Amino acid sequence: MIDFIAVNEPLLDGNEKKYLLECIETGWISSEGPFVKEFEQKFAARMGRKHGIAVCNGTAAIDAAVDALGIGQGDEVIMPTFTIISCINQIVRNGGKPVLVDSDPLTWNMDVSQIEAKITPRTKAIMIVHIFGLPVDIDPVLEIAKRYELKVIEDAAEMHGQTYKGKPCGSFGDISTFSFYPNKHVTTGEGGMILTDDDELAETCRSLRNLCFQPQKRFVHERLGWNMRMTNMQAALGLAQLERLDDFVQRKRQMGLRFTELLGKLQGVQLPLAATDYAKSIYWVYGIILNESTGLNAEQVMKRLGEKGVGSRPFFYPMHQQPVFRKMRLFEGEKYPVAERMAVQGFYIPSGMALTEVQMENVAERVREVLN
Ligand SMILES: Cc1ncc(COP(=O)(O)O)c(C=O)c1O
Repeated sequence: MIDFIAVNEPLLDGNEKKYLLECIETGWISSEGPFVKEFEQKFAARMGRKHGIAVCNGTAAIDAAVDALGIGQGDEVIMPTFTIISCINQIVRNGGKPVLVDSDPLTWNMDVSQIEAKITPRTKAIMIVHIFGLPVDIDPVLEIAKRYELKVIEDAAEMHGQTYKGKPCGSFGDISTFSFYPNKHVTTGEGGMILTDDDELAETCRSLRNLCFQPQKRFVHERLGWNMRMTNMQAALGLAQLERLDDFVQRKRQMGLRFTELLGKLQGVQLPLAATDYAKSIYWVYGIILNESTGLNAEQVMKRLGEKGVGSRPFFYPMHQQPVFRKMRLFEGEKYPVAERMAVQGFYIPSGMALTEVQMENVAERVREVLN
C-alpha cells in the first residue's frame, strides 16, 4: 500500500479543540452562540471592513451578495469565465445575464483589459474573482466601475490574508465574499462570510441569511431569503484559524516557493507566477499548466499521479462551456481561448496546510516521473 498524499489536509492544531469544547460544554451549538459574532467582528476587522456576516458556505455568501445588490431580470454582470459555478448561480437564477471575459495567461485571473468593451446600458456590476494565489489587478476594475457607476462584488473565497497593493483582499468594492471550506487558508469545515462597509447592504444580507424573518413579526415575510446561518461550532473553528492566519500565509508562501524550486527545471510546464507588481502569491493551490509539447493533458497526468499515490484536482471548467448553460442557450458561440486551454491543460497538486517537506519532495518526484 502506498501512502496517499491528499490534495488537501487542513491544520487544526491551535485553539480549535479548546473553542469547540467550549461550544459543547456551554451548549451553544447553533448560530445563536457567541463565537459567531466574535468571528464576524474579528474577520471583518482583519480584512478592513465594517461588517461581517457569517454564512454556511462561500457559495451562499455570493448568492446573498448578488441578491442584496438587487441584481435581477436583464441585469448584466461582467465576470471571468474561468471560475467556479458558485459565482454565477444566483445571477442566472435571478434572470440576470453573466457577461464573461477571458483570463490572463500568466496570472490566471480575469483579463481586466477586456472589461470595458463588454459594458452596455444594462451592465449593473462587475464581479472580481481572485484565482488560486494572486489577486486580480483591482485598480483598473474600480476605476471602470466608478466611471460607469457599476457595483463591484469581490469574490475573495481563495484570498484570506492576501493583499492588493498592501490593502487586504476582501476590502474592495461594495461587497466581498469568502469561503471557509477546508482547503482555504482559514477553514470552518463548511462556511462563508460576506463583508461590506455599507450598513444597509449588511442589514439586507443578515436578513437574507436568516429567511428574512422580521424582528417584530417573525413569521411574516416581505422578501424571500435562505437559511444560510453559520453555527457556533463552525465559528469556533474559524476564530482559532483566524488567530493563525499570518502564519498560514507565510507557510503557504514557503510551500509555493519550495514547489517552484523542486519543479523549476521541469520542461513543458507553466508554474504559478510568484508575484506581480501588486502582490506576492499566497499559493492557495499550486497549479501547473502542461504545454501541449508534452503530448499530455491534465486528465492523463492526474490519473497517473493518482496511481502513484498523489492527489490532484483539475482547474476550473469555464462557465461558457458548462452543459447546464448550453441547455439554457447561454454563451452560444462564445470563445475564451485562454480559459479553455487552462481547463484542458491545468491541474493542481497537493497544497494543504499540513503538507510536509518530505511529502512535497515526494510529490515533485512523482510529477517528474510522470512527465519525463
Ligand atoms: C473562487 C471561489 N468562489 C466561491 C467558492 C465557493 O465556496 P464554497 O465551497 O464554500 O461554497 C469557491 C470554493 O472553493 C471558490 O474557489
